Amino acid sequence: MRPRALLAGFCWVMGVGAGASFVAPASGAQPLALTPPMGWNDWAHFQCGFTAQAILDNAKLLVSTGLAARGYNTVTIDDCWMQKARDAQGNLQVDPDRFQHGMKPLASAIHALGLKFGIYEDAGSETCGRFAGSGQPDVGGKDHFLEDARIFASWDVDYLKLDGCNVGVAGQSDRVSAYRKAYAAESAALKSVGRPIVFSESAPAYFENTPEWYDVLTWVRQYGQLWREGSDIANYHANNPDAPRFKSVLWNYAYNLALGRFQRPGNWDDPDFIIGGDSGMSLAESRSQMALWSMMSAPLILSSDLGKLSPEALKMLGNPAVIAVDQDSLGRMATLVRRTSSIDILLKPLKGGDYAVAALNRGDAPAQVQIHPAELGFSTDANCSLNGQNLWNGERWPSLSVLQADVASHDTAIWRIHPSASCGAVTRTGAIIITAGRTLGSIDGYTHCLATTGKVEECSGAPEESWTVTSGGTLKSSGACLAVAGGKLVMEKCNDGSMQHWSYTLAGNLVNAADHECLTNVSASETQQPLTMQPCGHNQLNQVWSLPD
Ligand code: GLA
Repeated sequence: MRPRALLAGFCWVMGVGAGASFVAPASGAQPLALTPPMGWNDWAHFQCGFTAQAILDNAKLLVSTGLAARGYNTVTIDDCWMQKARDAQGNLQVDPDRFQHGMKPLASAIHALGLKFGIYEDAGSETCGRFAGSGQPDVGGKDHFLEDARIFASWDVDYLKLDGCNVGVAGQSDRVSAYRKAYAAESAALKSVGRPIVFSESAPAYFENTPEWYDVLTWVRQYGQLWREGSDIANYHANNPDAPRFKSVLWNYAYNLALGRFQRPGNWDDPDFIIGGDSGMSLAESRSQMALWSMMSAPLILSSDLGKLSPEALKMLGNPAVIAVDQDSLGRMATLVRRTSSIDILLKPLKGGDYAVAALNRGDAPAQVQIHPAELGFSTDANCSLNGQNLWNGERWPSLSVLQADVASHDTAIWRIHPSASCGAVTRTGAIIITAGRTLGSIDGYTHCLATTGKVEECSGAPEESWTVTSGGTLKSSGACLAVAGGKLVMEKCNDGSMQHWSYTLAGNLVNAADHECLTNVSASETQQPLTMQPCGHNQLNQVWSLPD
């Protein structure tokens, strides 16, 4: 199991991968969500404008389109299914206009289709839509976690999304404690009702980009199987159906990609719904979302009107080879190999010795992309070659010395590769980025790369931004090692000295083994200033880095 506090060296991420670190729950409880959850949720397309019939129609479409057979197996009803008030006994009441026969018949109909049934509630006194929540009132008092969990179990609920609006802090020392108490209570309630229920926690999203974010991300894994860490993906709005939504996809991808250290089988970072195929997303953008989410082992929860998806979109969303990358049992987060002003190259190790590689074109013009095995972390041996398969069209190429693709604007190429023996074992190689950016809501907040100049710079994909994280805890680039000398950062000949050794904490700090101080960007959002070594603060944002996974 990964230690939760300061970690010595890099072995905890390096090792044999996140898959090896999963620990089955104690006392014989069945492990849940060992691969990222998949399914459909009404929210991003319908918001509160759904009917029970629309839910059932989409459930039937999951089956008739073949998506259910590909793994999209859980239908979840999001906010607005309940009334604002509880009944005289304190029970939740379903909205009688939407559910004339109550919730159970719909749950049964979804189960009869061979699907699982999920529902939404909130850890606060009211949901985000201001309907009855499970949490205690702002002023303090009784919560309803246990009673509500019992109702969900009586409806045969298989999956609960617990949002985090309107969480009161009464009686708690701070906001983080108030959230933790609520999510722990829900977790205990779910465990007590005698039914395996996957628990999706929205708590981290309410702390996005604050220092407390990292505290919350550290404890959610104790209580549930997946968690939303940040902003909502852009919704569909009937009054502006073609409003572009890809920027929000890139933002959610960017924050999620930097949080790989929190993820492992049974515990998933959740960058929110798949809106690929829906209005506001071109086919290229839809492909990108599907490829990026799969590279990150993210939950694949469709949130579109399935009846309106084009045949191309349905085929793309159901692509078995891409879904296999998402559902790979190692559950690894992709490594950001290279980030330029318009291109991202990603690598993800898969069970059995294959790798997935993706090339995202964020730019407005088509781009030709070339990827050499050494850049991915394989050896520089001239005999190293890759057997590659393009996962969008199935085309196979044997013995490539370089992966190449023309990638259209906003599109993503994705390959499955198998390296030849002379490629050797892959090393952890890629960009190191400082994750507190200047622009919230845009991927530009995640485009500051550590360079061998001892500064962070606007990521350009230059060799000076390519780092290999060794199992011994050194950070190497172009054959030299990052070290602290005389209180300053230098690149020097690797000599295994302690000033060249770094540990990486779950909070994201790079701590030098000689002076025990943290690698610091003086101002979190500035580039081109010399980095300094400073005492490690508690989740100090200018000391939080994302490393190759
Ligand atoms: C929040 C969540 C969304 C959705 C709405 C419902 O915004 O992040 O996914 O559940 O609440 O009100």
